[in-house]
Amino acid sequence: MSFESNLDRLLVLDLVRVTEAAAVSAAKLVGRGDEKAADAAAVDAMRTALNNMDIQGRVVIGEGERDEAPMLFIGEEVGTGKGPRVDIALDPLEGTTIAAKAMQNSLAVIALSEEGEMLNAPDVYMDKVAVGPGYPDGIVDLDKTPTENIKAVAEAKGCSVSDILVCVLDRPRHGAIIDEVRASGARVKLIGDGDVAGIIDTTNPETSVDIYMGSGGAPEGVLAAAALRCIGGQMQGRLTFRNDDERGRAEKWGITDLNRKYSTNDLASGDVIFAATGVTDGYLLRGVHQTPDGTGYSTESVVMRSKTGTVRWVRAEHNRHSND
Ligand code: FBP
Repeated sequence: MSFESNLDRLLVLDLVRVTEAAAVSAAKLVGRGDEKAADAAAVDAMRTALNNMDIQGRVVIGEGERDEAPMLFIGEEVGTGKGPRVDIALDPLEGTTIAAKAMQNSLAVIALSEEGEMLNAPDVYMDKVAVGPGYPDGIVDLDKTPTENIKAVAEAKGCSVSDILVCVLDRPRHGAIIDEVRASGARVKLIGDGDVAGIIDTTNPETSVDIYMGSGGAPEGVLAAAALRCIGGQMQGRLTFRNDDERGRAEKWGITDLNRKYSTNDLASGDVIFAATGVTDGYLLRGVHQTPDGTGYSTESVVMRSKTGTVRWVRAEHNRHSND
């Protein structure tokens, strides 16, 4: 069965069920201070839902390697085994700390592509720079300074540098970037965690975020690139390594050029579907909430496809005992 002919009907809405299931399970543990329990609940629910999908799926970005992740490990086969062969990148709970602390912007996230179309990113850091849609290709570049990138975006946008808002993960390693952005005259929005949402925020004028900069997880970089392929925008990523063990992990996945600068398309190419459900409230999505009568949960999700550029927003109410 070809991916092409079945993607829309079979996969797009099924994929929302997968992220909804993960989000609802994780939501029961939001605010309990237990990151591992929240993550485990999301993983378990996502795996069960994925195994109900008519796909021959292979996890290419998952919870870790087989020896360190009992479920949704890299290379795990998921789905009923009937249907198209697809590669899957997933993060059942993106922002485990956010969820444990009941802060904003944790998501259940998944992306699906034809085989071989997403980078098998090792679990190392990636330097990232991203902007939303409407800019000329290559407007931001990892080899330019933050100031140069900011000036280029301000000029293209027709605004002054002081109007530019740059989203950065609040980490000591980003001290130099943060200082330079502020010295340039632009403003910094610091986020505690969750750079998939941080990068997607560049596509949403309501967030006022113009540029995302800084390093975060490489797997999250692939997921964010998959979203940008669908919703518009561009990013660049480059893997960074702290030691030989990390370099070895990249080589194990067949990455030979360790300094390669990846474009959005290099990270996720071909026909890609991206889906996310809010676990806690955020700019992108509302989180999981109890329905007013207390009999169930409401969820908000987005699912998008690169080939058509269709972006569907899905609000759902789930009966407390339903598996759908
Ligand atoms: P988790 O969901 O695995 O906790 O990741 C949250 C996150 O903030 C990602 O969004 C980001 O890419 C990464 O962690 C950054 O890593 P670090 O916390 O080590 O700076």
